[in-house]
Amino acid sequence: MAKITASVYTSHVPAIGAAMDLGKTQEDYWKPVFAGYEYSKQWLKDNKPDVIFLVFNDHATAFSLDMIPTFAIGTADSYEPADEGWGPRPVPVVKGHSALASHIAHSVIQQDFDLTIVNKMAVDHGLTVPLSLMCGPRDPQTGQWPCPVIPFAVNVVQYPIPSGKRCFDLGQAIRKAVESYDEDLNVHIWGTGGMSHQLQGPRAGLINREWDNAFLDQLITDPVAAANIPHIEYVREAGSEGIELVMWLIARGAMSDINEGKQTGAAPQLKHRFYHVPASNTAVGHAILENT
Ligand code: DHB
Ligand code: FE
Repeated sequence: MAKITASVYTSHVPAIGAAMDLGKTQEDYWKPVFAGYEYSKQWLKDNKPDVIFLVFNDHATAFSLDMIPTFAIGTADSYEPADEGWGPRPVPVVKGHSALASHIAHSVIQQDFDLTIVNKMAVDHGLTVPLSLMCGPRDPQTGQWPCPVIPFAVNVVQYPIPSGKRCFDLGQAIRKAVESYDEDLNVHIWGTGGMSHQLQGPRAGLINREWDNAFLDQLITDPVAAANIPHIEYVREAGSEGIELVMWLIARGAMSDINEGKQTGAAPQLKHRFYHVPASNTAVGHAILENT
């Protein structure tokens, strides 16, 4: 049977991708950001998954305002890096896992979460920046990502967006789906986006270190409480784009201590935690949890 063994949480700031692509990672501004991922790159090598289930958000790149799926699962064999206005990032094509993705779609929809099925999608910085941070640079011609990826897109761009609680419950359904797949696969689930940031309006530039760190504490040790944070708190405390953090609750809800909405099992082990400001307009947060 397939099994989720670990979850990874990370911000997806597009300028981080640009810093990597333009060879700026050792500049004074960027050095501390990348230092926070040194452990993580080695951890991913030492604990190489067979598949990454990557929860991310599209930024009106693949889905315009013409069509806005709340939850969309990628069932394709591959995904091209998107052109977000200055050409696609020079990173490898993302290989999918259509058999596992189709199984998860079937199971999760049967568990009453309505998913949009996506057979063709370009993936933007929301997906490629977390991969770059965790895997290190990759040559688009000769390199590859370490394993297949199932992209799972969440609408956090246009209201109405799903609640943290709904995301948390969905994570549990995803774990059930993975565990009913009849092949021994080591699966990691990643929750990406956040932390505090607001990119527009009078509060543009908002960063809230205290709230971000309290959210990290709660996500790790009291995820049921984190799942009950209302939208208004994210927006007030973490800025309009801080709402991306609801995606982290999908990954947290998929960990094995969570059963029927409660934390009843052995708590996961915290392998790594990192927080840094500044990175472009966003606070960078990152954590790795392993099931025990
Ligand atoms: C920035 C952060 C984001 O999450 C995003 O999608 C775009 C820009 C930023 O910090 O600049
Ligand atoms: Fe974003």
